[in-house]
Amino acid sequence: MQSMLRGKDWIETVDWTTEELETVLQTSWDLKSRFALGEPHRLLQDKTLFMMFFEQSTRTRNSTEAGMTQLGGHAHDLTPDKMQISHGETPKDTGKVLSRYGHGIAIRNCFYGVGNKYIREVAEHASIPVINLQCDVDHPCQSIADLMTIREKFGHNLKGMKFVIAWTYAPAYARPLSVPQGLITLMPRFGIDVTLAYPKEFNLIPRTVEAAKKYAKESGSKFNITHNMDEAFKGAHVLYPKSWGCHQHLQDQGVAEADRKKVGMDLINKYKNWVCTEKRMKLGRKNAIYMHPLPADRGAEVEDAVIDGPQSVVFDQAENRLHTVKAIEALTMGGRP
Ligand code: CP
Repeated sequence: MQSMLRGKDWIETVDWTTEELETVLQTSWDLKSRFALGEPHRLLQDKTLFMMFFEQSTRTRNSTEAGMTQLGGHAHDLTPDKMQISHGETPKDTGKVLSRYGHGIAIRNCFYGVGNKYIREVAEHASIPVINLQCDVDHPCQSIADLMTIREKFGHNLKGMKFVIAWTYAPAYARPLSVPQGLITLMPRFGIDVTLAYPKEFNLIPRTVEAAKKYAKESGSKFNITHNMDEAFKGAHVLYPKSWGCHQHLQDQGVAEADRKKVGMDLINKYKNWVCTEKRMKLGRKNAIYMHPLPADRGAEVEDAVIDGPQSVVFDQAENRLHTVKAIEALTMGGRP
């Protein structure tokens, strides 16, 4: 068990060894037990986390802020318009200044081709740990909470388990690629067989697919890609149908920035049958679970009967966002002197 994590940035799970990720999971269970017992665990007393949100959030914002309160510290809820970022202050200067005031910086910036670079630039110049609250490449706070949830439902030996992440039709807006990318790069490291299913235009950033293949090879698990949703669902233990946009495809095709929204939404509207229905859920195993990071586009990407049904674990996932982010905060902002 790796315990020297103080000061380490949490940007992508690929930056952490499997042993370090096990420490996060073990700490998450410890903090979940203490929370259940009502036992105080003020591990970050008087410490400050600066949370910068470039986009909206319900789960990430509230779990991260509640986590700091429960750990005895405080979180500032910031947006670019509350800061000089909106007047062009650089990531370097922002990182250096916030490092003089507190103990951690947490950022959500999902702009395609921008977010991960922005977070890494802040981290390069900050002298306190930086936590990625979702970018265009990874959503590590989500994927680690999902792994915790899967272990709670199926136990620790996940060898041979079939995990399916499938694209879904959700017309409200084009979501980032970071959740599927975060899942395919994390799950194979823990022996899980991953199937990624999507209509051909909804490919992910190539470096994340390459990482998934590499981890699968190293751990002896499988990583498959299909463009058939029914085929993907067959025999699955975990069904994780969720929407994302075709950002990489539009970039590959050279579609101009000004036209991307319309072209992207037209492509989403081509695949209205990519929906998680009760009928499709029956293709999975009898004890299969339904997962979604939320918010879900109810009635479009998933039927209410599925998301509210007995196989759904979406609120367990949402709860585990709290316990896992507290572990990340406590280990990186506190921990061993
Ligand atoms: N799953 C997730 O990140 O939700 P929010 O966008 O509400 O934070």
